[in-house]
Amino acid sequence: MVAELVFATNNKHKLEEVRHIISDRVILLSLADINCCDDIPETAGTLEGNALLKARHIKRQYGYDCFADDTGLEVEALNNAPGVYSARYAGEGNDASANMKKLLCKMQGKENRNARFRTVIALIIKDKEYLFEGIINGSVITEKRGEAGFGYDPVFMPSGYMQTFAEMGGELKNQISHRALAIKELATFLSTNPHK
Ligand code: IMP
Repeated sequence: MVAELVFATNNKHKLEEVRHIISDRVILLSLADINCCDDIPETAGTLEGNALLKARHIKRQYGYDCFADDTGLEVEALNNAPGVYSARYAGEGNDASANMKKLLCKMQGKENRNARFRTVIALIIKDKEYLFEGIINGSVITEKRGEAGFGYDPVFMPSGYMQTFAEMGGELKNQISHRALAIKELATFLSTNPHK
């Protein structure tokens, strides 16, 4: 039997990325597909907490097996900030450009530029909860480079590459990214586990 699984997102780009990787034995539904227009709270202080909040909301309100993700940029010299606050680092209502401006300002004069993107996926299936993680290490460069992608892509250079995420473009980024790694963990679980 083909199982239905809700991905707690309406981000089309993320949905396609996941559909591409995930086993064809799972029918992936978006929030729009289940008529969910809720503003799901992301009030936890950790990526794990926020991913669980979102997945639990869908399970409780709509009854579907589901998963949700949360991602943050963790910068070593800033005690892992912006982390869970990555989307609103420069304050609510600010955009990626303001977030990067604040980050580059905070990083002025720092020798240690190590950073990583970390994605956590919370899965609720048959009333059990599971967490998956994807990490890509790299560094925060000193000024923006590249046009592709979103968020902090122009200032993040993954280890082993001479291009930022924004310079390398979607195809390569989607193979090596934090999100791709977390999704692969989830896909492996779903394809090898009797729960599905
Ligand atoms: P979300 O949990 O996927 O919504 O990500 C939270 C925030 O982290 C986003 O608003 C971005 O600022 C940042 N972020 C997440 N993934 C990426 C990425 O692949 N590149 C750059 N920034 C990202």
